[in-house]
Amino acid sequence: MKVLSCHVEVEMGKQKSEAEPDSCDWPEPIVRVQSLSESGELLIPNQYIKPQSERPCLYVKEMNIPVIDMTGLVISREETMKQISEACRKWGFFQLVNHGVWTELVDRVRENWRKFFHERKEVKEKYANTPKTYEGYGSRLGVEKGAILDWSDYYYLNYLPHSHTKWPAHPPSLREVMEEYTKEILRLGEVLLKVFSLNLGVKEDTLQNAFGGAKDVGACLRANFYPKCPQPDLTLGLSSHSDPGGMTFLLPDEQVFGLQIRKDNQWVAIRPARDAIIVNIGDQLQVLSNSIYKSVEHRVVANPDKQRVSLAYFYNPKNDILIQPISELITLETPALYSPMTFEEYRRFIRAKGPRGKFQVESLKSQR
Ligand code: OGA
Ligand code: NI
Repeated sequence: MKVLSCHVEVEMGKQKSEAEPDSCDWPEPIVRVQSLSESGELLIPNQYIKPQSERPCLYVKEMNIPVIDMTGLVISREETMKQISEACRKWGFFQLVNHGVWTELVDRVRENWRKFFHERKEVKEKYANTPKTYEGYGSRLGVEKGAILDWSDYYYLNYLPHSHTKWPAHPPSLREVMEEYTKEILRLGEVLLKVFSLNLGVKEDTLQNAFGGAKDVGACLRANFYPKCPQPDLTLGLSSHSDPGGMTFLLPDEQVFGLQIRKDNQWVAIRPARDAIIVNIGDQLQVLSNSIYKSVEHRVVANPDKQRVSLAYFYNPKNDILIQPISELITLETPALYSPMTFEEYRRFIRAKGPRGKFQVESLKSQR
């Protein structure tokens, strides 16, 4: 997410209500990318062909994003805190190792989602989503008719606040496994918010309070399924975006790489460390830190030979709390770069416009 002036944010608020979907339907029939892939067709439909400027480059350098050993927070605290601080400022991304989440649990999480995407079509279609909440089985983001689509299907699930989580009934173990895994994500989220607060030079509970308190945070997830793609040079598995929420815990596919992040205006490919959980700063933490921490753009390239499954778990502020730069960080030299907006409002806007929505608004603004 780029730094926006207060002015632009107000503009964004205005656009938001106009862009909201006014029906709970998609603008065109939904096609599952998995079924396109399985059809064996060698040419992808036009609707997936990206404009030249967005297509993936053939040669992308590979870089190691910072690896943070979480046991370091106990053993060599100062050093590890410094590494995390650097990662948040310079990369917006890091990989957590020795995070304390059992490998068996992580394996089961991956296995269950993989199984879901391999259930029969009728089973999956029972959970077909709509743009109203996005919960369930989906194949597009945004409701603009004729929009260029990504080469992926997904399952989106709201877990916290507890309401009526749309769990798939198959595979039967999925719910229990995800409940177990959620506990771990909440634990990691709490630890990291403390670390981020201290690193920003404020009291350790500042960010958690700004999120609405540990008991009221939002937690939702997206399991991504990237089917094989016959023309990976023309499309993307997931378009360039920054994550709108607080922070994201990503379980990448360990066998199939594909995640790229924008570093110093260049795309770099990420090769995840073994058993790592990738953490990235979302837009709300960029706002709270007044842009000291960066919510960095990332994307996923499609793969010609292998399907890929990943799980992005979003740790978010409470929906209705106003998010704005924390007051201790505002000085004459560093004025607030963002005006207050609830996460709910922000998210509604992103959902209506699709992942590139916020960039469109920014470029509209810069043209005036
Ligand atoms: C996401 C995301 C990356 C991946 O779901 O927001 O960035 O590797 N996923 O699937
Ligand atoms: Ni993302």
